[in-house]
Amino acid sequence: MSASPGEPRAFHRIVAELDYPMIIATTADGTERAGCLIGFSTQCSIKPPRYAVLISTKNRTAEVAVRAEIIVVHILRPGDKPLARVFGEETGDDVPKFDQCSWKPGPGGVPVIDDCDWFAGRIMRRVDVGDHVLHALDVIDEGDATRAERGQLGFQAVRDLHAGHMP
Ligand SMILES: Cc1cc2nc3c(=O)[nH]c(=O)nc-3n(C[C@H](O)[C@H](O)[C@H](O)COP(=O)(O)O)c2cc1C
Repeated sequence: MSASPGEPRAFHRIVAELDYPMIIATTADGTERAGCLIGFSTQCSIKPPRYAVLISTKNRTAEVAVRAEIIVVHILRPGDKPLARVFGEETGDDVPKFDQCSWKPGPGGVPVIDDCDWFAGRIMRRVDVGDHVLHALDVIDEGDATRAERGQLGFQAVRDLHAGHMP
């Protein structure tokens, strides 16, 4: 039997079992850096290459992304759970996350975290889709894919983490 509107129980059960590839999105607005762990992301165009990243309106990263031009997407691998913990359980509202990892300034000064595969995109569109804002990225820098054979860190491997901000 289907649930009544406002109680999408089947939906919640289905999405809880999906295995989103976990990424870290970083950004910068010229004065401030930010970044968070993200499960909601996907390629959304092939030609031109585009990628969509959904950022919760509660996150510090969303506040900085409003003023930013570029987002760097880092693809997490199975050994990256400690990094996922820093960017997913802590918030830039309380903690300087970039003191807890090694990184370098990348395109537009946006942090590129060491030892991660990454690409960078220019924010071409922002769409308010509810409690998250979809950021459509035009891929502008191919970054690094030297760890592409190592597999991915999926949502099921990190679902025990407690988000720094609840949506
Ligand atoms: C498993 C997991 C998945 C998450 N997925 C997302 C997501 O898709 N989008 C998002 O904005 N935040 C997501 N978060 C939450 C943020 O990573 C978290 O609230 C973080 O502390 C925000 O940091 P900030 O306030 O410095 O931006 C997720 C957290 C966890 C633990």
